[in-house]
Amino acid sequence: MNPLSAVTSAIPIHRFDVERVRTDFPALQQKVHGKPLVYLDNAATTQKPSCVIEALEHYYYLDNANVHRGVHELSERATDAFEGARETIRAFLGAASVKEIIYTSGATESINLVAYCWAHKNIRSGDEILITEMEHHSNIVPWQLFCQQTGAVLKVAPINDDGELMLEEYEKLLTPKTRLVGMVYVSNALGTINPVKQMIRLAHDAGAVTLVDAAQAAPHIAIDVKDLDCDFLAMSSHKIYGPTGMGVLFGKQALLEEMPPFQAGGDMIEYVSFDKTTFNKLPYKFEAGTPHIAGAIGFEAALKYVQELGLGVISAHERGILQYATQRILDIPGVRIIGTAALKCGVLSFVLEGAHPSDIGTIMNYHGVAIRTGHHCAMPVMQHFGVAGTARASFGLYNNRGDVDAFIGALAKTKEMLE
Ligand code: ALA
Repeated sequence: MNPLSAVTSAIPIHRFDVERVRTDFPALQQKVHGKPLVYLDNAATTQKPSCVIEALEHYYYLDNANVHRGVHELSERATDAFEGARETIRAFLGAASVKEIIYTSGATESINLVAYCWAHKNIRSGDEILITEMEHHSNIVPWQLFCQQTGAVLKVAPINDDGELMLEEYEKLLTPKTRLVGMVYVSNALGTINPVKQMIRLAHDAGAVTLVDAAQAAPHIAIDVKDLDCDFLAMSSHKIYGPTGMGVLFGKQALLEEMPPFQAGGDMIEYVSFDKTTFNKLPYKFEAGTPHIAGAIGFEAALKYVQELGLGVISAHERGILQYATQRILDIPGVRIIGTAALKCGVLSFVLEGAHPSDIGTIMNYHGVAIRTGHHCAMPVMQHFGVAGTARASFGLYNNRGDVDAFIGALAKTKEMLE
């Protein structure tokens, strides 16, 4: 498979002024070890534009108060901003109602919420849960724990040696016993874009409920939950230029209505007495305790920033950068790309003959180049490719050809040092 076949851009790159965009990100303006920072660890977390930092500052400087509780001015402002952010997130995902947008600490908590609340109510011993071989640990381990606790059975749809899902095998693994299918939209370790719309349709045909892990997809691909027809979708703020510790679970209202609460405490209740407690309406039923108010406000600022630039234009720019990086890295002898799917975004994972990935990352750091090395919380992917880990360059909207040139230059020097 030609690793470049997925990265032809449909939208001209000149519409996107990456040099101007870079000035929006203060962290990119620094030097590391005396070299301009080349930040290529965007799949781990993205840098934050000034508008996100300013939104957080504004809240803490002027509007800081708890939400849904006070009648005073600051509480009203905080509540308006917090609920306004929910509406922005709803529109970003194309959900029908803000009742379907549950604030969480990130994609991991969103997936765990589905495991605790939906799965425990709906999946029994002997039922099956299907996931893919390229899931992040956060969409594997909750289901392993769930299966240990309940006697449900975890099935895994395999990938091929390009890192693509084997769709026919996936289809064969869908049975009348399949109750839930968990699928990653974009693999953080490989960059593979999965055909989730088709996977969801097939899962629904088999009578299963679907959960999409969109943590890595959201910064690169426009998501429309109505078009996908997913039942649940998990997303993190910090992968899309927003604050850490913040994310959402999208769930179809009818499913969320039927689910028991997640954590118990304030805000998720309607009425409490020692005889009987009743629960709040959606989405608050799943939001116990004082939420990450600043996180929601920063998340909204990040989504508005991305929307203003346009996800279509961002995607086209990033495809061009991935294509260029893929071309250039293949000029370095001994490089093997891990993940050569026909449809890819954001990620260039590789190994270098005779070099340990962590040595590559450590030396690259001295050239000012930030990449991630290791198993990327996707150990089964590493097992598939027979490697302990990879070095991974992952791209965001602000990366340019100069970043790729610096990365390739540093990699060539690293290779020389390690030989
Ligand atoms: N899952 C994140 C990554 O891929 C942390 O780096």
